[in-house]
Formats: sequence, C-alpha cells, structure tokens
Amino acid sequence: MTTPSASRTPIIGGNWKMNTSAASATALAAAVSAGCGDALNHVQVAVFPPFPYLLAVGAALRDAKSGVLLGAQDFYHEKNGAFTGEVSLEMLADCGVKIVLTGHSERRHVIKESDELIAAKTRASLAAGLRCILCIGETIEQRRAGETDAINERQLRSALQGIPAAQLAGLVIAYEPVWAIGTGVNATPDDAKNAHAHIRRVLGNLYGQAVADATPIQYGGSVKPSNARELFTQPGVDGGLIGGASLKAEDFCAIVRAAVPDRT
Ligand code: PGA
Repeated sequence: MTTPSASRTPIIGGNWKMNTSAASATALAAAVSAGCGDALNHVQVAVFPPFPYLLAVGAALRDAKSGVLLGAQDFYHEKNGAFTGEVSLEMLADCGVKIVLTGHSERRHVIKESDELIAAKTRASLAAGLRCILCIGETIEQRRAGETDAINERQLRSALQGIPAAQLAGLVIAYEPVWAIGTGVNATPDDAKNAHAHIRRVLGNLYGQAVADATPIQYGGSVKPSNARELFTQPGVDGGLIGGASLKAEDFCAIVRAAVPDRT
C-alpha cells in the first residue's frame, strides 16, 4: 500500500550541470522565481547552479523572495583540510545552500565516484542538516538484463548504510534511469511507477513504513513540459530532477506547474 503522493510535497530540482555564465545564471534564477508564480506555494523548487555562481544565484533568489532553494551539485564529505579543489558542506551552507545532490549518474559513470564515496557524501550531508537528493538508477544494459529493481535496491542500501532513521527527514530519492538522462528518451509512466514502488518498498524494509511514506521520490531523465504531467501523476512519483529543460525558465516553470497536485 502506498499513501497517496498528496501527503508528500512534490519537489522539482533544476540541475544546471556545467552550463550558464555569471550573467545567464542570475537571469535564469530571477526568471524561474518570477515565472513559476503560484505553483511555488504547492511545489518545493530548488536550482543547482555551478559552484562559481552560487553566491550570485543565491542573492537573486533572495531578492525574488520566491522560496526557491539554492542547491549544490557536488561537495566533499570531509570538514576541511588538504583536499585540493574540493568544497565542504560548511562552505556551501555559508553560501546559502540548503540542498545537495549525491550519486548523480554523471558522477557515478563519468567522474567514476565509488559507492563508498557516494555513501560518505550522503551520510555527511544529512548529518549536516542539509537536504540531500540521492540519485539512483540502472544503465541500459542492466535494464535489458532485467536488473532494474536489483540495481536500485543495491544503490539505495549502499548509499544509506549507517544513516539513522532520525536523519531521513532530509532525504529525497531521485530515480534516474541512466539511459534516459540527456537522451530525449524518458521512462514510460508505468516504468517510473513500478520502479518508484519498488524503491519505496526497499525504504520500508530498511526504515519502516512511516519513513517510506514520508520520503519524496522524484523521477529524472528527459522530463520536459510535454511529458511532465503524465509522469508526475503516477502514484508514488513526487516531482522530478530536471537537466536540459531546467536551462529555459519557460520550460522549467511549465514542468513545475505540472507537479502541482490536483485539488480534489
Ligand atoms: P535531463 O537530465 O533532464 O537532461 O535528462 C536529468 C538529470 O541529469 O538529472
């Protein structure tokens, strides 16, 4: 049994990846704040700019008073010290960051982050009191081999190891099939519904039904204005993590509006 998703506030993330400039990032933040309007009262929205633009985007979001959260795409889990090139959670919090990503497929498969590193980052971010969107999902080969549920379960168990239930209020899961990210090919609404149901069952086995019912699970992978509503109205799909379509305020806001729950 799944509690109706209406009991969880939908959450939409705009992952800008390695895109934008100082000027276009602040303009995009302002346009998203203004363009999403009333939908921001019903959907939690966060944007994830590149590191160099965090302060400027944070200022633009504060000026707009829209409630859009400032997010960071990555960080290192150690507190401070000799870690050349890395950025700590404390530094990010200092810049106004409220939410971070872990386990994104580009970090798993392009940057080659290990399960251990993803677990350390997930653990550190929740312990620091930030929200964390933990991304999981199977490759096309794994899907063809019928391993979707097994991969999601393995990635989930590995990333959550050692995290106490008391810290899970900050957790969001993003189910992102790797073959759907940036490809224009999205999971069918049924694929998403089934994967989300399995992920919620695993959460229930690990932490109990109340935690499973309270944890938002986003879908990610080629979400666009034309497919967002059908995906977000599936039971157990609580919004999405958006890449390409988050770089155009008009498209991103249309996706945010598609996540507003029906008022029935
Ligand atoms: P996409 O990216 O929307 O461009 O497919 C999704 C993501 O990487 O989270």
